[in-house]
Amino acid sequence: MQWVDNRLPLPRLVYGAIGGGYPVPRNLNYWWNFGVLAGAALAVQIITGVVLAMHYAANGAVAFDSVEHIMRDVNGGWFLRYAHANGASMFFIVVYIHIFRGLYYGSYKPPREMVWLLGVVIFLLMMATAFMGYVLPWGQMSFWGAQVITGFFSAIPLVGENIRIWLLGGYAPDNAALNRFFSLHYLLPFVIAGVIILHIWALHIPGSNNPEGVDVKGEQDTVPFHPYYTAKDGWGMGVFFLIFALLVFFAPNMLGHPDNYIPANPLSTPAHIVPEWYFWPFYAILRSFTADFILPAKLWGVLAMFGSILILFFLPWLDRSPVRSAKYRPAYRIAFWVLVVDVLLLGYVGGSEATPKFLILGQITAAYYFAHFLIIVPIISRIEKTRPLPNSITEAVLAKHDGHGATRDGAAVPAE
Ligand code: HEM
Repeated sequence: MQWVDNRLPLPRLVYGAIGGGYPVPRNLNYWWNFGVLAGAALAVQIITGVVLAMHYAANGAVAFDSVEHIMRDVNGGWFLRYAHANGASMFFIVVYIHIFRGLYYGSYKPPREMVWLLGVVIFLLMMATAFMGYVLPWGQMSFWGAQVITGFFSAIPLVGENIRIWLLGGYAPDNAALNRFFSLHYLLPFVIAGVIILHIWALHIPGSNNPEGVDVKGEQDTVPFHPYYTAKDGWGMGVFFLIFALLVFFAPNMLGHPDNYIPANPLSTPAHIVPEWYFWPFYAILRSFTADFILPAKLWGVLAMFGSILILFFLPWLDRSPVRSAKYRPAYRIAFWVLVVDVLLLGYVGGSEATPKFLILGQITAAYYFAHFLIIVPIISRIEKTRPLPNSITEAVLAKHDGHGATRDGAAVPAE
């Protein structure tokens, strides 16, 4: 290894990134597993995707049949396809938890703003990739999903329709659209992998945040990444693949829509066009605008939908509180949990039919979503009375174990 390192310092890089050379706060809880799990999910998508691409045909006349050929004729093809389709869901579950972990513990705050901003870029790229991937099997939902989503662009005044035709390479989704979506769907995961490298690079400058949200003060507050967090992440990985396997082997179509097993038909619109579950909250925001007000309702919907993600870019500056962890921010903690419920409700509305009842619920929850970031968090961050922070991570860890006589690693607890 020394011989390689002298000629190409790759071993040094690995040792410094995930080896014994990377000191990590000693108190990270299981919510800190999700970054590594997101990386694992991306790896699964790339590996299964590259092999699927060997058998898939991006041509409107045969795309649907080529997927059925993968399911029936290709050795292990059903497994590859189910792993890839459910892998996308697993990826989004993990990343949503990863984002909410950051929101709860204030990981977007200084000095980790760049880690957060790059995370939002990754999230946008993930959404684009997932959308284009869903078009590829060329079923009814693929076709009509593409029709609806590219239809957003025609909401742009004057040039919108031209942009849409340019993006699709035609007046409706067809061969040209399918080909370019396939090309970009293959490309973007590698762009995501590149941005992840930047994401982790930016993280390694200040190092990881932690559940207490206080800075590391000296060696006693950290442990080496290996073996402590390689072991903890390894355990999390086991649970992740167990749940993933349950989906793939026992409920592979649970999260999909049955209409996508009907070949795309431009002459037959499905009764309800719904995107995949991970887009539901955004779909609910899009549908919340029903009346024209200065701008057409459709344009408001599109602006609000993109705005709901873009707003995340400004979060580090909207939340001015110097205290990171919600553990020490009683008011913010309540706002956080209300936001969780709000986003779950938005998801429920986005996946349901647009009846008047759901429309109103969608409008209220969409308005609250924006109020959380633009009004509630800025105000709380100025007036909230935070709880006193521990002096150090070690102090917090020891306090937690006080009364039991010993800390986790067996060291005696200093008497108070
Ligand atoms: C493919 C997607 C992603 C991958 C592979 C990834 C990977 C990672 C890894 C390995 C870590 C360090 C371990 C951890 O803290 O969990 C991390 C930390 C972090 N990530 Fe991500 N991430 C992704 C997406 C995102 C997104 C979408 C956001 C936010 C919008 C985000 C925000 C953060 C933040 C703020 C941290 C620092 C956490 C802390 O130290 O408390 N990440 N990420």
